Amino acid sequence: MSSENIAIRVHGVSKVYPIYDRPHHRLLQMLSRHDKGRWFREFWAVRDVDFSVARGETLGIVGRNGSGKSTLLQMICGTLTPSAGSIDVRGRVAALLELGSGFNPDFTGRENVFLNGTVLGLTRPEIEDRFDDIAAFADIGEFIDQPVKSYSSGMYVRLAFAVAINVMPDILVVDEALSVGDEAFQRKCFARINAIRENGATILFVSHSASVVTELCNRAVLLDHGELLGIGAPKTIVSRYQKMLYAPADRLDAIRSEIRAECGTPEAAAEQGLALAEAQQVVSSASGVEMEEQDELFFDEGLVPQSTLHYESLGAEITDVRLETPGGKRVNVLKADREYVYAYNVVFRQSASAVRFGMMIKTVTGLELGGGASSTLTDSIVVVEGGQEFEVRFRFRAHLAPGTYFLNAGVVGRVGEEEGYLGRCIDVAMFRVMHDPERLATGLINFDIQPSFRSAEA
Ligand SMILES: Nc1ncnc2c1ncn2[C@@H]1O[C@H](COP(=O)(O)OP(=O)(O)OP(=O)(O)O)[C@@H](O)[C@H]1O
Ligand SMILES: [Mg+2]
Repeated sequence: MSSENIAIRVHGVSKVYPIYDRPHHRLLQMLSRHDKGRWFREFWAVRDVDFSVARGETLGIVGRNGSGKSTLLQMICGTLTPSAGSIDVRGRVAALLELGSGFNPDFTGRENVFLNGTVLGLTRPEIEDRFDDIAAFADIGEFIDQPVKSYSSGMYVRLAFAVAINVMPDILVVDEALSVGDEAFQRKCFARINAIRENGATILFVSHSASVVTELCNRAVLLDHGELLGIGAPKTIVSRYQKMLYAPADRLDAIRSEIRAECGTPEAAAEQGLALAEAQQVVSSASGVEMEEQDELFFDEGLVPQSTLHYESLGAEITDVRLETPGGKRVNVLKADREYVYAYNVVFRQSASAVRFGMMIKTVTGLELGGGASSTLTDSIVVVEGGQEFEVRFRFRAHLAPGTYFLNAGVVGRVGEEEGYLGRCIDVAMFRVMHDPERLATGLINFDIQPSFRSAEA
């Protein structure tokens, strides 16, 4: 990355906090002059992190709670000093950090707009020029003349965001703050962030949302216990992050090493970042530029739901739940709109009547997107003998947006006078639909919409 193209350079940066096991140890440490007999342990919130961000790039930062994301952003914004290493930032930085930073609680919203604008390097007339836009964007009505300490967290973020994005910063840093606002406000913010990005600004963005990171960013960083574990294409980083999130504890270390080996080299990744930023100037929308198609994983053993619930069986046991390609290859990372088979086996421990099999696909939030049954009630299997085993297969097309989905499986039959579950598993499997840069469909479901248009005069 040539140096004039760099907006932010983070070089060997660490942040260490002293941790005192007991409150009075803090005092003992203050009284002891030497390092000997230290009364604290060191806690590395960020450890030896290295990366550069090219001008015009949108960099996403992902990682579990406590992985050091906010600490890193605060050091980049200058509100926190690194314990080691150096950070170069070129340009005016507007930051939306965690709540409570940036505003003086005793001042009114209006006064804070001026205070904040001045800190961001605007003159008073410049702020006066923009004040109406800021107030309109925040849309908090007469609260603008109330002290900020009386604001709800949503109002606070609205105002902070309104200031940050109306000063047209060179670098915009956003730390999860958006998740506080309501959905309508979030949409408005994302639209504005896009405008700022198209204006050539550099954006740093912490988010727990995989879709926001893959849609908005052209590169991403994965932090883990303060360490930069990986940096690269958002899709790659997000999928590695999800792999970690869903990994069983005893696999975590192995997965960490894998990620380090695959995407942990900052130098190579920095070069890649510049290539991406340059590509973006040529191609209008380069977000989600794919570099690792051949590196695609179709079966990710980390994709195991942690919310599986097996209902008590009434004679039917569901086993060997799996997703396959029509050719029988086991998968759980799917390509959108391709055909797949959801299959499971059912062992009947006792005889049953009026038997049917079913399935359901749900979102992470539990929204039931679609399911199916093996037959109608009148066509059900009349009698099943105890000891019989079935293989049940549901062929379907993954007409879904990129993201993570969960599957249910169920066997129904006659229970007393009515139909009831003989066996049922909730969240028995999960799969991920890959990001597809060619996708025209919007929203969760692809309805196979065929667009056409022509000039009205013709
Ligand atoms: N002043 C402090 N003293 C001691 N430890 C701290 C301090 N500030 C942060 N930490 C610790 O540093 C680690 C990283 O915190 P940080 O807030 O950067 O995480 P994060 O990735 O932003 O998490 P989240 O997703 O929850 O926002 C955490 O374990 C936190 O407890
Ligand atoms: Mg944080």
